[in-house]
Amino acid sequence: MLLFVVDVSDPVPADYVCATRGRRISNQLLQRPRFYLYKLPKEGGRTHEFKGETYLLLDKGSEGWTEGKVTVNDTKGALGQTVGQLYSQEKNSEVAYILYNDQPPSEEFGGRWAEGSGSRGGHTKGVVLLDKNQGFWLVHSTPHFPPERQEGQFYYPSSGVNNGQNFICVTYPLERFQTIGEQLQINQPNVYDCDVPESLASSVPALAAVCNKNLLSSQTFPHVKTVSNRSVTLTSTGGTDFISFAKGAKFDDDLYHSWVAPALKSDLLVQFWVRSTGILPSDCSLGWKVLDIKSINPGQTFTFKTTEDHSKWAVSPRAAGDGSRGGGWVCVGDINRNEAEEQRGGGTVCLQDPTVWKAYRTAALECEACGGGTIQC
Ligand SMILES: *[C@@H]1O[C@H](CO)[C@@H](O)[C@H](O)[C@H]1NC(C)=O
Ligand SMILES: *[C@@H]1O[C@H](CO)[C@@H](O)[C@H](O)[C@H]1NC(C)=O
Repeated sequence: MLLFVVDVSDPVPADYVCATRGRRISNQLLQRPRFYLYKLPKEGGRTHEFKGETYLLLDKGSEGWTEGKVTVNDTKGALGQTVGQLYSQEKNSEVAYILYNDQPPSEEFGGRWAEGSGSRGGHTKGVVLLDKNQGFWLVHSTPHFPPERQEGQFYYPSSGVNNGQNFICVTYPLERFQTIGEQLQINQPNVYDCDVPESLASSVPALAAVCNKNLLSSQTFPHVKTVSNRSVTLTSTGGTDFISFAKGAKFDDDLYHSWVAPALKSDLLVQFWVRSTGILPSDCSLGWKVLDIKSINPGQTFTFKTTEDHSKWAVSPRAAGDGSRGGGWVCVGDINRNEAEEQRGGGTVCLQDPTVWKAYRTAALECEACGGGTIQC
């Protein structure tokens, strides 16, 4: 009989993964097939227990939201452990990454802090980091995040403290990043820092093209050129199927009502940034109820209005299998329901999972009824 002795003090090999901190071994990354992270807004009123740096985490395997033990800016937190892998070593010829954000970090100071700046490209934010085995795709809502690699360390921008923000991190095997690269091409991201070394470019040419800004190069990607939107199933390293919805400027319609709801065969409650012009009201036409959320309380922490939440997520009002219509879905992404963003690239990543559904569904308290007025969601 062979016995394999594993020395737990050995560092985990640097395979780029969604990660949280090891509970017992302080410098060990705990690999995660996926997590959801809800950065809570700063609490108003007199108590203000929550100062805008608290986050809730939903790991695979956990029963519901758990409060982060450190602040969102801490390198030992889930974001720090995950995105921090980008800064932890020298420029490495075996690692590819793409940082994209319609509001890049360089605009944090001096630049106008307003949703809708950089309006030509996609309204889309995320981080891709991978090696020759696997990597993660983090989709989020935070302006000016994360810092460029040359900054040398992870931090969370102060401009992201006041409002709520959402993050979905999923670990995927290498092969999936070609498809992710194609989705990003549709999204027309503003890439502010990237590197796809030669050694990986042949495996993931679409990502290399995004990095080189050869967006929609007809020679390399004839099938992507004319596509204004595409949904694909992305299977994580954990074996879970996520659906990525990506749209470009040409789509020219509301992501949730015109596409995600009918595609999932589900009504949707949608949280998005409402402090901009041209907000789309709740819409119950075409057979699907897509309602704007008005107030939220994730993980029974505290109740806040959507005016304090910059997150973009959607949840089915009903559980899966409850009635004839589809349900049980949660989507986290980077597109709001407003007129301007009908003509911007961006998307959302959806999963049908009972625990994730419950965590988001119970967070949605009040919604706008179709035709106006506030109702229980
Ligand atoms: C995060 O930490 C950095 C130092 O690492 C600090 O400069 C910055 O102000 C902090 N941001 C917040 C939001 O606390
Ligand atoms: C694009 O979106 C429309 C809905 O607007 C949908 O019917 C169609 O299937 C989508 N195309 C792809 C390739 O997913």
